[in-house]
Amino acid sequence: MELDKAWIRDPWPLYRELRRQGPLRRVVMPDGVPGWLVTDHAEARALLDDRRLSKNVHRARELFPPGTAGGYITRLSEHMLNDDPPNHTRLRKLVTKAFTSRAVNRLRPQIERITDELLDGVDGETDLIESFAFPLPIAVISELLGVPHEDRSRIRAWSRVFVSGVTGEPLATAAREQSALLRDLIRAKRAEPAEDLLSDLVHVSDEGDRLSEDELVAMAFLLLFAGHETTVHLLGNAVYSLLRNPEQERLLRTDPSLLPGAIEEFLRTGSPIHIATLRFTTEPVTVGDVEIPAGEFVMVSLLAANADEARFEDPYELDITRPAGGHLAFGHGIHYCLGAPLARLEGEIAIGRLLARFPSLRLAVDPADLHWRTSTLVRGLRELPVIAST
Ligand code: HEM
Repeated sequence: MELDKAWIRDPWPLYRELRRQGPLRRVVMPDGVPGWLVTDHAEARALLDDRRLSKNVHRARELFPPGTAGGYITRLSEHMLNDDPPNHTRLRKLVTKAFTSRAVNRLRPQIERITDELLDGVDGETDLIESFAFPLPIAVISELLGVPHEDRSRIRAWSRVFVSGVTGEPLATAAREQSALLRDLIRAKRAEPAEDLLSDLVHVSDEGDRLSEDELVAMAFLLLFAGHETTVHLLGNAVYSLLRNPEQERLLRTDPSLLPGAIEEFLRTGSPIHIATLRFTTEPVTVGDVEIPAGEFVMVSLLAANADEARFEDPYELDITRPAGGHLAFGHGIHYCLGAPLARLEGEIAIGRLLARFPSLRLAVDPADLHWRTSTLVRGLRELPVIAST
């Protein structure tokens, strides 16, 4: 079955139909990549944790020599999310400590300050993605890593290129320029370490282990990219779905203690990652009565799994009082989102303070006129025009 981009805007009817037929289906994605689309929660969870599926992209390196367009892209992509154990285990261990709930909680005052400064600039009609949801996560992850202010707008621009699905020269230029910036930054941290995660990584010594410069660049790229492109859409999708469900908005405004559960429900219903990153089978894998041959791509739809009727009651209803847990918005298994505690904290602070600051928030346009990103990886709005009044 061939999928076109229309399905990204309103994926639910297709997912309902596919689930009725079985837990997975061979498809061709809009970008022409063939693979197995998984839509059931139980199978999605099992496959995300299945060691017979690999994420190792290192083989691509041989195809693209250093200094070529493909070379820059593959080298930036050689991070732990695209690797298997034992290298994945080794790389992840080096950064785990910085992302525990305890470590992340120390960032609370900084996140609150950034949030308040951004909200100071919001008044009346505004595009909430541009003025709030986009700048907040990039500022937070940049502070954590130690990326100077003057470099942030370029990083934002390159990220737009990476999620836009463009290929060829614009993609190669973005990858080349971002590699160069990260390399310079790493050299600067090596010469003059500061109190930040990038300096720690440059100097890290884990049982004698060190990251090579290529590994450092790829790690910094992953943390920057994963640390903001997703959280933008947690915030955007959360506000959008609250504004579409006024009773739920009222409930949350009356009882802010519901906020942590509400964030989980926003993640479940508006998963910012639509389809998890590509995995491929290293041997034949049987799912139900289907055998996926070796060497085929598996595409796990987190959005579909999170709306599986067999796992969630009334899955299409936003219910912020629903018992939390079970959604797959942060993935599952060894690649489970490293930044989940940070994303949750940012979500709570951002949504909590936005609602407290603006007793009235409404959509400034008809929902049918909103534009969704057409990526199969990231699901979110291009813009979210609202009228915010105090
Ligand atoms: C991995 C979602 C925020 C860093 C993942 C994965 C998902 C995900 C689904 C697994 C992908 C796969 O298995 O194919 C999200 C969502 C976020 C978010 C929905 C926001 C709401 C963050 C933040 C960071 C981060 C703030 C901070 C640095 C990472 C990293 C990985 C990852 C490093 C790779 C982990 C590994 O390979 O072991 N994320 N993420 N994420 N995420 Fe997040």
